[in-house]
Amino acid sequence: SAQEDYKLWLQYAKVSDSKLVSDYNSNINGIVALGNSETIRVASKELQLGLSSLLDNTTVIQQNIEAENVLILGSKTSLNEAISKSLNKEFEQINNEGYIIKTIQIKNKNHILITAKTDIGVLYGVFNFLKLIQTNKSVENLNIVDAPKIDIRILNHWDNLNGTVERGYSGSSLWNWQKLPDFIDQRYIDYARANASIGINGTVLNNVNANALILTPLYLNKVEALANTFRPYGIKVYLTARFSAPIEIGGLKTADPYDAAVQQWWKDKVAEIYTRIPDFGGFLVKANSEGQPGPQNYGRNHVDGANMLADALAPFGGIVMWRAFVYSEHDVNDRAKQAYSEFVPYDGKFRDNVIVQVKNGAIDFQPREPFHPMFGAMPKTPLMMEFQITQEYLGFSTHLVYLPKLYQEVLDSDTYTKGKGSTVAKVIDGSLDNHKLTGIAGVANIGSDINWTGHPFAQANWYGFGRLAWNPNLDSEVIAEEWLRMTFSNDLNFVNPIKEMMLKSREAVVNYMTPLGLHHIMDTGHHYGPGPWVSNLSRPEWNPVYYHKADKNGIGFDRSKTGSNATSQYTPDVAKIFDDVKTCPEEYLLWFHHLPWDYKLKNGQTIWDGIALKYQKGVDEVATMNTTWDKMNPYVDEQRFREVQMLLKIQLKEAKWWRDACLLYFQQFSGKELPKGVENPT
Ligand code: GCU
Repeated sequence: SAQEDYKLWLQYAKVSDSKLVSDYNSNINGIVALGNSETIRVASKELQLGLSSLLDNTTVIQQNIEAENVLILGSKTSLNEAISKSLNKEFEQINNEGYIIKTIQIKNKNHILITAKTDIGVLYGVFNFLKLIQTNKSVENLNIVDAPKIDIRILNHWDNLNGTVERGYSGSSLWNWQKLPDFIDQRYIDYARANASIGINGTVLNNVNANALILTPLYLNKVEALANTFRPYGIKVYLTARFSAPIEIGGLKTADPYDAAVQQWWKDKVAEIYTRIPDFGGFLVKANSEGQPGPQNYGRNHVDGANMLADALAPFGGIVMWRAFVYSEHDVNDRAKQAYSEFVPYDGKFRDNVIVQVKNGAIDFQPREPFHPMFGAMPKTPLMMEFQITQEYLGFSTHLVYLPKLYQEVLDSDTYTKGKGSTVAKVIDGSLDNHKLTGIAGVANIGSDINWTGHPFAQANWYGFGRLAWNPNLDSEVIAEEWLRMTFSNDLNFVNPIKEMMLKSREAVVNYMTPLGLHHIMDTGHHYGPGPWVSNLSRPEWNPVYYHKADKNGIGFDRSKTGSNATSQYTPDVAKIFDDVKTCPEEYLLWFHHLPWDYKLKNGQTIWDGIALKYQKGVDEVATMNTTWDKMNPYVDEQRFREVQMLLKIQLKEAKWWRDACLLYFQQFSGKELPKGVENPT
């Protein structure tokens, strides 16, 4: 029902195995919550909600620990000395947000202790304890010690003040600016619960294409109400700052970062924000990209702009997330090279509280991109990852694509900057270059739809982003399995085939949209559906033909040293691999090389046949997704079953649309027949 759609992975559906239920019940005989912060209050409320629904019993809150098998929750300082001392070793292993779940003995009686250095850590422990039951794991002899590897785990909402969401495909913005600050929608609280349950600890409320009005008292008043709502859940609020705000809402003539009045304006503005929101996180900034104002408008550079804001925020502990997605008309030789050229020369010049936010690839959230060459290239500057959770180029909220597969591929990529094993994950978690400030951002796919994300399976992308933000080394397969169990069912007849379907879905979309390294051939503007033929837009790099460069001689973008030389932005080890068509991984082939139609792939197929067969394979994979799902009726509530079924049918229709459109278009240049096995355009 709609209820299930809404509840995300916090369904807390009754455990169906009665043996398990009695095991759980015998281990959980009441709750003792130590401490009286708002966070402890919501943690114990969540436990009661979860347990009563999962186990169908009303677990009582107790005042003391006289009974046996009590669930004790509280931070280190609230524990008695003997217990806290006995956990010294565990406490040493965690940071401020980590948690410990451990079976302990007090006076020969067993209890489960959920503890942490902070109350927020306790809340994370509570959600993870509930997850054990949600996924039907044992709660005997527990000894779990876990802590996040990245500090800032943040959602970027591209939400506009008028309620629309840029690249949002799941309704309108969650933030009801008109009713705020006095009306606190229950949704805000459920949003915070969902995020806390996966360890997300920050949210940027407004679009990177920012409206300066968010910084006026009228809106700050509303932002303050949201910050108050999210605080017990450990979620800090951040805002995007429009660089020209001093002009637009400050009445100044300029926004030049060298201008003393401009600097003062930002200092005053920041101080004003902190009087309202003492734990305000800071600013996210898109500057001098796609028409947004920035320091370059005044002949200054990114460092000048970022450091000015950083100086205003520093006294309060706030940070600047300065985006590297710069994309202007100046460098049309190869758009992929622009960010690196504009940022890498400034390595080491940013203030300590600036972190540069880099998209996972150098173009723009394609179904597959090689990792961004900036990762590893700025050892003296903390870099944070920007992933897109909303599926701008991946079928919006209509196509089922399990994105943690994509995220994992990027995080596991090797930059080789300090030899083999210098993965992107190590750049991001700060371990490669010893950075204290670390972060990872996901462009949210959340909106006002009942199911939050438009597609029931798009919830898994929000979930999976949070899990990988907590620990970038987690396996996307493990994440899919826990999500399925919590969201739908623990029945392996369901979990196994559907997990498989999810894991294959990302390669399927690559195959039916952009195989072998093709990219950005979506129809322009909205980016939905194929449009490889579009060539009439005023800026060259807006046109798909710029990216595939198909002609009679072949297809692909030569970014090797014989072409745009974008490969030289990688370390020599990596550049060498990408430069040589023989060693370039075939999934990136046409990203880095322009090749003749009869160039032979490793399996002996020509490029033309290979492309055609990949498009067909993508279609076949979506057909399999359909037949797999069709059998799942017994395990899923009627509403979600039908929704997914309808969506998969559309996905199949559109996978064929992609195949037919792209093959018919490219065939004009290749002049070749479709190989055997590829269906003729319908
Ligand atoms: C893409 C997207 C824009 C967005 C931009 C950004 O280009 O299409 O809508 O504003 O990325 O990340 O800033």
